[in-house]
Amino acid sequence: MNTDEFRRLGHQLIDWIADYRRDAAAGAYPVMARVAPGELRRRLPSAPPAEAEPLEETLADLTRVILPACTHWQDPRFFAYFPANSSLAAVLGDLASTGLAQLGLNWQAAPALTELEELTTDWLRQMMGLSAAWSGVIQDTASTSTLVALLCAREHATGYGAETGGLQAAPQPLVVYASSQSHSSVDKAALLAGFGRANLRVVAVDERYGMRAEALRKAVVADRKRGLLPCAVVATVGSTATTAFDPVADIAQIAREHGLWLHVDAAMAGSAMILPECRPLWQGIEAADSLVVNPHKWLGASFDCSTYYVRDPQHLVRVMSTNPSYLRTSADAEVKNLRDWGIPLGRRFRALKLWFLIREQGVSGLQARLRRDLSHARWLAERVDDTSGWKRLAPVPLQTVCVRHEPYGLEGDALDTHTLAWVRRINESGKAYLTPAMLDGRWMVRVSFGAETTEREHVEALWGQMQEAVKAV
Ligand SMILES: Cc1ncc(COP(=O)(O)O)c(C=O)c1O
Repeated sequence: MNTDEFRRLGHQLIDWIADYRRDAAAGAYPVMARVAPGELRRRLPSAPPAEAEPLEETLADLTRVILPACTHWQDPRFFAYFPANSSLAAVLGDLASTGLAQLGLNWQAAPALTELEELTTDWLRQMMGLSAAWSGVIQDTASTSTLVALLCAREHATGYGAETGGLQAAPQPLVVYASSQSHSSVDKAALLAGFGRANLRVVAVDERYGMRAEALRKAVVADRKRGLLPCAVVATVGSTATTAFDPVADIAQIAREHGLWLHVDAAMAGSAMILPECRPLWQGIEAADSLVVNPHKWLGASFDCSTYYVRDPQHLVRVMSTNPSYLRTSADAEVKNLRDWGIPLGRRFRALKLWFLIREQGVSGLQARLRRDLSHARWLAERVDDTSGWKRLAPVPLQTVCVRHEPYGLEGDALDTHTLAWVRRINESGKAYLTPAMLDGRWMVRVSFGAETTEREHVEALWGQMQEAVKAV
């Protein structure tokens, strides 16, 4: 393909994306994909084309084959999982990134990539009201960020044991603590970092689903008595099920007393900290050692864009660095080589989409959207609270409302069957998409607001559908 052909086809593709976003915003598609497993593969040749095809045919297949097998995360009636906004400005930033095709092996290989990443993570730091003591880097996902955090915690506790015998030579088993509401990526990171399931403590939560700090303290003291070495605690700021907040300040106090690494998982809720009124929810954050916030969720920087902040970058670099001769340059003393700030060597120009997003929206534009979403959640929570037969199951500090419809006399497994039936009915209607999840051993339904296009009319329509759906099952 030469650049003239690229220009022609690229215009077509931008038009296609613009039409898709316009139609998705107007609710033209069923929100949840209506495909059977394997359907897409059956519609496409199983072997690669031996000869070149005109790219127009591939573009046509986007509409014919790909679209029908998509769930529409940018649809205003998407209330499932969590918002994963991909703001159109960020789409353009991502396109610029791919077009520029930079590969950040070190500063010299991609100076703009490196410095824009420093700049945009620092902008976001300021937007979230964090002190200048934090340094940021962009990772692919929160799962990776948390793995990096636990690797740093491990090396902190063992005095850089990896440089000698590693965990296999540690005199005592190291223990990691997280609440029962923490994300599965925390378990995964602890296992991958070599701690072992037996050394991962699940700390109890209170009635608001935040970690009980006293239960953490007891667990740490008990482990010490048994001769184990408490190593790290992961505090969740905005849990996946209910957006619950662990008490960061209290946890930080315990971490300080016992020499634990404190990692904060604010993957979802970190975006809310661009609102000064939300910052009391993570009070104590300055005492953490590491922090992950995903701008690829609610904020609007297209996936993947997970920002990881640390207070001691030298420690991070010592844990992560490898320094083969072919990557060394004369600029090394003056620059950051971001390969030493995470696991992969290669690095995409992810900062561009964050830069495009923040500049196009301005801080005030982003704040206004998030405040709108918080008000959607409050509106629905009030309706649920005021309507008999409906129950709200958790506080609503942010944009997620956890509900159950509990008809008189229905409980136990029969209630679970009812819950799963009405949510399935809504999802299969194509008119909204919600996620059922378990809370305290029973099914409930999470209504997660935050899609960029969701306005109050969509929230009102959803509430109407919920009330209809429970009658029909
Ligand atoms: C609190 C929390 N932590 C971590 C994750 C994992 O995020 P990622 O997909 O970026 O690894 C999620 C995503 O659902 C989350 O809600």
